[in-house]
Amino acid sequence: MSAYIDVANWLKLPDKPPDDQEGNGGPYYSPPENQPFEEMWEKFFAIHKPPAFGSQMRQQFFPLLTGNLPASTNPDLSPATTPNRPLPSPSRRVTFLAHGSYGATARPSLDVARQWSLTMEASPVRFFYETLFPYLVRSQRSVAKLVGASPEDCVLVTNVEVGMGAVFSSILLHPGDKIVAFDVTYQAVLFAAQRSCERAGAELLTMRMTFPVTKESVLTDVRKFLDGQASQGGKIRLAVLQHITSPTAIVLPVKDLVRVFHERDIPVMIDGAHAIGQLPLALADLNADYYVSNGHKWLCSPRGTAILHVRRDQQSGLNPLVATWGHPYSASLAARFIWQGTADYSAQLAFYTTVRFWEWLGYERTIKRNAELARWCGRVLVDAWETNLLVEEGEMTKCSMRTIRIPPPYKGVADGSKEIPLGDILFARYGIEVPFFTFRDARWVRVSTHMYNEKEDCLLLGRCVLDALGFPSSHRGYTVLETARRENNSRL
Ligand SMILES: Cc1ncc(COP(=O)(O)O)c(C=O)c1O
Repeated sequence: MSAYIDVANWLKLPDKPPDDQEGNGGPYYSPPENQPFEEMWEKFFAIHKPPAFGSQMRQQFFPLLTGNLPASTNPDLSPATTPNRPLPSPSRRVTFLAHGSYGATARPSLDVARQWSLTMEASPVRFFYETLFPYLVRSQRSVAKLVGASPEDCVLVTNVEVGMGAVFSSILLHPGDKIVAFDVTYQAVLFAAQRSCERAGAELLTMRMTFPVTKESVLTDVRKFLDGQASQGGKIRLAVLQHITSPTAIVLPVKDLVRVFHERDIPVMIDGAHAIGQLPLALADLNADYYVSNGHKWLCSPRGTAILHVRRDQQSGLNPLVATWGHPYSASLAARFIWQGTADYSAQLAFYTTVRFWEWLGYERTIKRNAELARWCGRVLVDAWETNLLVEEGEMTKCSMRTIRIPPPYKGVADGSKEIPLGDILFARYGIEVPFFTFRDARWVRVSTHMYNEKEDCLLLGRCVLDALGFPSSHRGYTVLETARRENNSRL
């Protein structure tokens, strides 16, 4: 049982600074030794340079992203086969512009997670008694560093909704209390907030976001809403915000919003499901009470990886949804959360390799390039389709997704009253995966551009949407796309 105390201590210790090679200023944190399958990737990272973004990246690190996997395929994903060697040829190739939906796992993460799973099966008792905690702590420390937080203030959870569920179930709501959230909040998060309100006789209030949206309009919406509530009675116990909204892809000015809510003594929980892997993060500075982000979205970590950051002064009141063996050691947030029973921790153990992969790629460099591609894609598609972006280019679009309005079908192709199922048509007819949705009475597409996407993917989407909507080949939009291809042959 002292393992729980060890966990708390390992998280407190500082990393050994490079200028103290002898370790005289310690004690410092010493990570467990790499497993052989992790070491193979370490060697690979040491020898190779990252490939060019786009198709090379896709071939080497997302070889499974093909649309379907032949039943007999059990590919060796380790670097031993070298990522340069293509896997068995796929029966089709999908143009994947839907990373924001469920992510896609990078090869090192997938490989290492599979190997962890086998390691666990080789010696289940030793694995759970001896191996698990030191390696989980190592994952937690490495992710904490990536998001600019102290490891003691973070815990690993399986996904954003589980992290948020812990917060919803831990805050004490009384009849008449309120939780507030924007109307553009991810629907499942609204459902979770709704359920905790219903249990306590509290109320979920949604704030309508004004469009066209700007940083100022968002802050005004919130201030006006809170002023209106001041005379209504009942205490607002929590504000729930998204860092990047979904599916609308709006980057909210969370730092300013946190300040506005804190001025009125309202704690803030931020859903950063899309944030790690798209935005530079400094969670310790952000000062939100709670912040949750998925690893399995933009960081391309295996599914089942998320991080919950809890500000120090909120930690004593926060418990996991499932309380197990760590409960008696409740002075430590990590001890309460680290053990969730006999579950499969292989994804969380591979979180570490995911972070190493991004260190090798260069986090800033990669998110910057992906955001530039999204910007380019938005500009070209708006021009070709003669429509508009949901949010004007600026601080609130500084990410790797764009929400672009779909043109109406070409005259006479459809009567306009029937919705053309573009998502299904694009996948079945052209092999493009991308989500379409209706928002405030208009149809939109949300384009995600990750490290494996390239300009050609966006141009293909542009042409195929025009084609699916019945635009003749003489239409100006095709010329715009062709010109964009010729003028922009520079790689991104
Ligand atoms: C904004 C937002 N919040 C929460 C979630 C839920 O993530 P998960 O299913 O990993 O809990 C999503 C998933 O797409 C999302 O887009």
